[in-house]
Amino acid sequence: MDKTAKISYDDKSIDLPLITGTENERAIDIAALRGSTKIVTLDPGYGNTGSCKSEITYIDGEKGILRYRGYSVEDLCENSNFIEVCYLLIHGELPTAETLEQFSHKISNHTMVHEDIRKFYDAFPSHAHPMALLSSVVCSLSVFYQDSINPTDPNDVEISIFRLIAKITTIASYSYKTSIGQPLNYPDNSLDYSSNFLNMMFRIPCEDYEVDPDIAKALDLLFILHADHEQNCSTSTVRLVGSSQANIFAAVSAAICALWGPRHGGANQEVIKMLEWINKDGGNVKKYVEFAKDRENPFRLMGFGHRVYKNFDPRARIIKSYCDKILNKLGVNDPLLDIAKQLEEVALNDDYFKEKKLYPNVDFYSGIIYRAIGFPVDMFTVLFAIGRMPGWLAHWKEMMSDPKSKIGRPRQIYTGSTERKYIPMHKRTES
Ligand code: SDX
Repeated sequence: MDKTAKISYDDKSIDLPLITGTENERAIDIAALRGSTKIVTLDPGYGNTGSCKSEITYIDGEKGILRYRGYSVEDLCENSNFIEVCYLLIHGELPTAETLEQFSHKISNHTMVHEDIRKFYDAFPSHAHPMALLSSVVCSLSVFYQDSINPTDPNDVEISIFRLIAKITTIASYSYKTSIGQPLNYPDNSLDYSSNFLNMMFRIPCEDYEVDPDIAKALDLLFILHADHEQNCSTSTVRLVGSSQANIFAAVSAAICALWGPRHGGANQEVIKMLEWINKDGGNVKKYVEFAKDRENPFRLMGFGHRVYKNFDPRARIIKSYCDKILNKLGVNDPLLDIAKQLEEVALNDDYFKEKKLYPNVDFYSGIIYRAIGFPVDMFTVLFAIGRMPGWLAHWKEMMSDPKSKIGRPRQIYTGSTERKYIPMHKRTES
């Protein structure tokens, strides 16, 4: 294969290195482009631009492949658990039993938050969106750990990673309990990660509460499926904010805000709203598929489409397969699941969707399971953030460990006014 790519412009040309990854993906290394030609590339949305080399996650959008550190999500869902996947993503290898026990113990021992943090929740209105609380409280952690937030100190990085994986579930459950006027629950370190989160979310002081192990397992699987996805919007955010050497809590708080958007992690909440709307409107899915095809109509099929997956999102397939199992286990008969399946069936047989390669993504079925478990819709993107935490941390760590890491600072092509003189007020006219 060629080792260089030739770019010709005007009557000149430049040879730039071609690099090839371990899965034979290829890129033109344009680091020397502007210095040699005064020309930059332009790629709004970065659909054709690699921001970095990474060893963490591989996606093949055409074949529907998703692997964390070389292990397929199907394999990990079958054999692993979320805390082990956290270790794998952050450290690069599957842990031994002893290492996993130590890692898991460390996380359990960091689940509590400073008592002063509980006061934050009283200051927010009860209808505050839990993503607003999550990003605010995560960023505030930098205030409570001033002595250990140096992003270049390995010990500070290690303990901050434990704190973020551990405390995000506590912080998330506090926002839910506050919103429904129930007392906050402390973590229970005798429980596994997902069971502890369910316990903090749904325990009430006047009754015994036993976590259903099947539900905890289902939630753990959903966290695994959300754990990383290479350079998606929120992960690119954590890398960009981290590249300024802001502390890790600030970088993760920024990623939470990026995830909140309905084009990204916020879609899981919008899918349920869309399905409820279609259900209320008589369940006529064909009508809404036609709306989605009409370019004059702003309606989008939420949970459909993806920048990378152009055949199917393997996560959507796995989650769909769990829907029936979990809803049957819970004895839940959700009409929205039937509508979702009909929507998928109609869309996948429609030329518009086939031509634009629009398939259900990770957000299309996940909300059906969250709803069946009892999570309110506005907590869905918070659940996505809990799952994505190890991915954000692994990428932040990879970026910070790169000796060539520089502050992220894209260029632009200016298309505004050329130079002009200041106009005194008395000479200005309404334009
Ligand atoms: C996530 O990047 C990641 O990896 C993200 C994620 C992760 O794990 O981190 O996988 C998680 O964010 C999943 C995506 C969740 N978002 C949604 O479900 C929202 C609905 N989807 C769309 O907004 C859209 O598909 C995106 C944002 C997901 C992808 O957008 P792109 O790649 O920029 O594609 P596009 O918007 O340019 O769409 C291409 C064409 C357009 O038509 P034309 O302008 O070419 O005529 O497809 C159409 C779009 O109009 N289209 C849709 C559609 N999505 C795209 N038409 C109807 N319904 C849709 N959902």
